[in-house]
Amino acid sequence: MFICFSVRRAILDFGSQYTQLIARRIRSLQVFSVILPYNATREDIELFHPSGLILSGGPSSVYGPHAPLPHSTIFDIGVPVLGICYGMQLLAHLGGGKIAPSPQREYGFAELEFVKSSPLFEGVPDGSQVWMSHGDKVGDLPEGFEMVARSDRAPAAMHNLVLKHFAVQFHPEVVHTVEGGKILSNFVFGICGAKATWTMPSFIEETIRRVRERVGEKKVVLGLSGGVDSTVLAVLLHRALGDRLICVFVDNGVLRLGEAKKVAETFQKHFKMKLHVADARQKFLKALRGVDHPEKKRKIIGKVFVKVFFKAMPKFDFLAQGTLYPDVIESVSTKGPSDTIKTHHNRVDQILKLKKAGRVLEPFEELFKDEVRLIGRELGLPDEIINRHPFPGPGLAIRVMGAVNEERLDILRRADAILIEEIKAAGLYEKIWQSFCVLLPVRTVGVMGDQRTYGQVVALRIVESVDGMTADYVVPPKSLITRITARIVGEIKEINRVVLDVTSKPPGTIEWE
Ligand code: XMP
Repeated sequence: MFICFSVRRAILDFGSQYTQLIARRIRSLQVFSVILPYNATREDIELFHPSGLILSGGPSSVYGPHAPLPHSTIFDIGVPVLGICYGMQLLAHLGGGKIAPSPQREYGFAELEFVKSSPLFEGVPDGSQVWMSHGDKVGDLPEGFEMVARSDRAPAAMHNLVLKHFAVQFHPEVVHTVEGGKILSNFVFGICGAKATWTMPSFIEETIRRVRERVGEKKVVLGLSGGVDSTVLAVLLHRALGDRLICVFVDNGVLRLGEAKKVAETFQKHFKMKLHVADARQKFLKALRGVDHPEKKRKIIGKVFVKVFFKAMPKFDFLAQGTLYPDVIESVSTKGPSDTIKTHHNRVDQILKLKKAGRVLEPFEELFKDEVRLIGRELGLPDEIINRHPFPGPGLAIRVMGAVNEERLDILRRADAILIEEIKAAGLYEKIWQSFCVLLPVRTVGVMGDQRTYGQVVALRIVESVDGMTADYVVPPKSLITRITARIVGEIKEINRVVLDVTSKPPGTIEWE
């Protein structure tokens, strides 16, 4: 629900898409921001040395029985505050103002009509278009506040220049608010005095310094998947620790075509790092035999992975993981267990225990994928690695619908390799977030030559996304789909039908399981 930011780091989480947007917008101004839970204490926040605090929007009404309210002491920190939407209503409510409840939410465009100048709106013209999405609105302003702008006869912005508290009813973080970037920039730089110092080189330098300080002469083990996140992390940690970093790669039998070999080659030959490869293909496949429920598959893979991984690795003091921010909020969220969307690999019990004991390093846990790619580029990694599509920890096991076995994995692997090859050849690979095949648990009738066939079906999943949190399906040109289909059906005799998934996220997820 709140966001606070600083020249170093900090934020408060409510889990809404908009909250993350605020964080991203501020980071794009090269000021680090961190999301923290709405009930973070003054001490929690002060750890981050914030230069400002943002109270984000949220679906609640301040008069509701379970309205999330902040600790009142957070305002004693003394930094400027910006309330957005629910955040504005909170500032009004806590300051003794009145809120006009409304049973319905209002969505849509509105125009700002300024009644007073404010440093928050420097350079923003009268009549500027903003995006509203709210139920309640502020009725009577709290003491010490002045109305700065209105829209549709209701206060759209207010400030208290003595306290340096500002609030807006609309959402400056969404693109529909035309001057949203300017408003946030006015707050961050003009009002809070933050400096644009959060760049990738500074992140790398700071991470290396912190890792060295924390690890000292001890040993770190890193679970390498071969994907972008763990690869970038491996290179970064190698720079910080040299041979005190040992990478362990588990071949779990649900990898893509030729993947295990490629990872070993890249790390041992190209990066010259210490790498242990654990061939556990049979262990995983045995544990997965006959299991068709997605969450059960994920849990089994997580469990076997941890067993194999801990057995394969040498004695270690710290475990490093390339966990990203979306992984953290989608599986262990502040939203409670009912909202857990998918169990993520890097949050299984054993790892959580190590985490509690302070033995897990996750330098990317507050970053998004595109930010990790920027770090990779800065570290000089080749484009081929940096631009690799994300690949889930449970691998092809969650792309073979129903029970997983060697034969079905092999069919999927070959289809997937064709899709990727064609997407790359068409110059599409780097423009999209992910493209992969899903093997369906049904068989369909077809005809090839004069022969009736009864074969398997693959679905093509091609999506674009910025961070994997939301995604849109991509429909490639018809000639490309025709070519992919012809190759899959022609080269893989078990498959006689190809379908295209046209579901965005939400309501779908990117992976099918
Ligand atoms: P969903 O399916 O949740 O996926 O929309 C969002 C992004 O996360 C990837 N994904 C995973 N990554 N471990 C991972 O490391 C997992 O268990 C996992 N499940 C999904 C998915 O490929 C997509 O990019």
